[in-house]
Amino acid sequence: MTTELLTVKVAKRAQEAAGIITLELVDPAGNDLPAFTAGSHIDVHLPKTGTLRQYSLWNSPSETHRYCLGILRDPDSRGGSLEIHDSVKEGDLLKISQPRNHFHLQEGAAEQFILLAGGIGITPLLSMAQRLSDLGKAFELHYCSRSEQRTAFVDQLKSSAFAANVKFHFDDAGDEQLLDIPSLVGTQPEATSLYVCGPQGFMDAVIDAASNWNPTDVHREYFSVNEDHENDSSFKVIINSTGQVIDIPEDSSITEVLEEQGIDIPVSCEQGVCGTCMTTVIEGDIDHQDFFLTDPEKEAGDVILPCCSRAKGTLVLDL
Ligand code: FES
Repeated sequence: MTTELLTVKVAKRAQEAAGIITLELVDPAGNDLPAFTAGSHIDVHLPKTGTLRQYSLWNSPSETHRYCLGILRDPDSRGGSLEIHDSVKEGDLLKISQPRNHFHLQEGAAEQFILLAGGIGITPLLSMAQRLSDLGKAFELHYCSRSEQRTAFVDQLKSSAFAANVKFHFDDAGDEQLLDIPSLVGTQPEATSLYVCGPQGFMDAVIDAASNWNPTDVHREYFSVNEDHENDSSFKVIINSTGQVIDIPEDSSITEVLEEQGIDIPVSCEQGVCGTCMTTVIEGDIDHQDFFLTDPEKEAGDVILPCCSRAKGTLVLDL
């Protein structure tokens, strides 16, 4: 994977729904952009603060001339979406990463696909729906949202080639059209793959309903990160190659403290979603707080994402 940053131009900014804008990013010289696969995201380096936020690409991977983002203005977030909503305009140049994909659409792995979107979690699933439609695969896209007015891409979905595969579920539009997650997830035939993206409660409900599925058929991507660090406490890290013992205070991450000590672990998202910082653990009780590792990987306890995960007691890292 290349880490070279791209400079792109904001060719179009549009108000897609209440509180949601779309950005169309193109190469400033009009060249093709690096190809991407459905489910990919890019890191956007925010123009004012330089901090980094990840956004999924919602357009079809068959398009080579643009990357399309959908961004919810989220006053509860750590400011990334507000900065983009408030300051990014058409014609601006942005630094972005190359597309990366931690939410692969495994196209050949199933006979049919269920895509479940909650709110702005639609973005990677919209790209997947276009891809599945192009491939002629059987799929359903269920899109849950608070109200039609606050729902992005309604017109686009209703006029798409796969409109018949899309079902909307609006919280304010009557009980009969609400999504019964346990019933939908519980009645799928074998050889179905499930992809889900949305807020934590929605994801939890879907994953709970799919608890008896083969884990390899259930694919998820979190778009909001758990920022509840109330219960974080201090612990120690031992650098295995040198024996150095380093205290990690309750309000700092392992990567932050190690960097101060001159020990660099590569990071990207710093939110436990990209996997860049994955580090081997030789010994210790890991408090996994990431959204990247699978449950079996977490249980194995031999790797940590030190940008966000912590430990109880002392952790020996293979560094
Ligand atoms: S830097 Fe992305 S998971 Fe740690």
